[in-house]
Amino acid sequence: MHIVFAASECVPFAKTGGLADVVGALPPELVRLGHQVSVYLPLYKTVRKFLPEDFKYAVRSITVPFEYYNRFAAIVDGGVRDGVQYYFVDCPELFDRDGFYGPKGGVGDYGDNAERFGLFCRTVLEASKQLGVPQVFHVHDWQGAMIPIYLRTIYYFDPVLRPVATVLTIHNAGYQGWFPPKTIEQLLLPWDLFTFDKVEQNDTFNFLKGGLIYSDYLTTVSRTYAQEIQTPEFGAGLESVLIKRHWDLRGILNGVDYAQWDPARDPKLAAHYSAEDLTGKKECRRDLLHAFGLNDVPHTTPVIGIVSRFATQKGLDFIAQIADKLTERNMVLVALGNGEPYYENFFRDWAAKRPHQIATQIRYDESLSHKLEAGSDIFLMPSRYEPSGLNQMYSLKYGTVPVVRATGGLEDTIEEWHADERTGTGFKFYGYHPGDLLWAIDRALWVYHNDPDGWKTLMLNGMAKDYSWVHPAKEYVEVYEEVLRRRG
Ligand code: ADP
Ligand code: GLC
Repeated sequence: MHIVFAASECVPFAKTGGLADVVGALPPELVRLGHQVSVYLPLYKTVRKFLPEDFKYAVRSITVPFEYYNRFAAIVDGGVRDGVQYYFVDCPELFDRDGFYGPKGGVGDYGDNAERFGLFCRTVLEASKQLGVPQVFHVHDWQGAMIPIYLRTIYYFDPVLRPVATVLTIHNAGYQGWFPPKTIEQLLLPWDLFTFDKVEQNDTFNFLKGGLIYSDYLTTVSRTYAQEIQTPEFGAGLESVLIKRHWDLRGILNGVDYAQWDPARDPKLAAHYSAEDLTGKKECRRDLLHAFGLNDVPHTTPVIGIVSRFATQKGLDFIAQIADKLTERNMVLVALGNGEPYYENFFRDWAAKRPHQIATQIRYDESLSHKLEAGSDIFLMPSRYEPSGLNQMYSLKYGTVPVVRATGGLEDTIEEWHADERTGTGFKFYGYHPGDLLWAIDRALWVYHNDPDGWKTLMLNGMAKDYSWVHPAKEYVEVYEEVLRRRG
């Protein structure tokens, strides 16, 4: 089967979060299962450094019409890696910028995102007619959602594209791509699409909503999140559409690329370790504390780690609310992340107030994120919602015990510790109250300080879990086969 992926992020070329990890790891796994996969990605400024000097165009010019003008996109051949063919959509006026969705380090989105991702999607459709029409377009989030919308509206009569099935994966229903009504005209779509049963929502053109309506099948990245988004609390206004389509919605938990995330061979670590021999983890802890400038931390003091986009989704305000209480505990805390200025300032101020206990690095740093997973004892993820979450799964593999809010993929991957049975992999809390988070952290700290054997069992229970991509990739193949069956 030939599958075309269209997404706005993909490791190693462009990443702000877990979407990139997924789009980087799932296609090679599908290739290992015997399928042909091409991945299309916008040619952002950061992608350019991956191109050889003598890079080749796969298609030199594709005309993309807008209301008053045409734009011209090229397809750069990104080559084949692990059997996956990469294509980059080149339109420098739209993509050759520092940020992917908005100014880097700035707040908000670019004003022309509808045009940027509208062009991206239309170019993928046109390019695939020249480079290979797949059986399935597998598109991701609102940035890929215009593909099914175009395909079932203004491309409806295209004899070549018409049989192609579409699958849309929701990685995060909190980001939907809302645009002004005029976008209909800008993208040359008919006004009759702008109704509540199609792409309209609260008088905006909602890309994700249109994608949910026009795709043949929908997936999201954990079973619990697939249920949650059918409720007003998590559906972010799309719950009624998702309820209507619940027969076509499946939760497939993300996997982990253990070629990148395994403490036994991770080249970014100061030392290696495994469940059989944990000694290297001590060296990783030393290295991490050094990187964060925390010196003379007694070896009996646990290290709590955070790696996160600093966004409201991640529940960091719960941490802010228990900050004073937490600093009374015997622990040090290191946080790596960036994003909303409110959270950046919170961590900066907290670290300035408690320089020997709290340390933060406000930036995106791939290598430090690996060191943090390895060198911490406890990993904190108090998310308000979490479609899948990858960091908690990385933590398990690195013997770093997760403390998480029981939502989405966090609920599905972390089992509460039961001291009597010696079962479980972490600590969970359910409520929305900061006190619930503190109580979960206190339970973890209690075991760490008072039951070293129990703590080691917790670590080993987590390290024994296998969240590789093999199983989820097979589930995606089942979905592709199902949509093809339906299209006949
Ligand atoms: P989300 O996609 O919502 O941000 P995930 O847990 O699925 O959450 O994935 C986050 C990914 O982004 C992980 O691979 C994590 O290591 C990485 N990440 C997030 N923030 C940073 C950062 N500041 N520096 C390095 N990596 C980061
Ligand atoms: C989103 C979600 C995260 C998920 C990732 C990859 O960014 O917030 O939970 O792991 O997508 O699917």
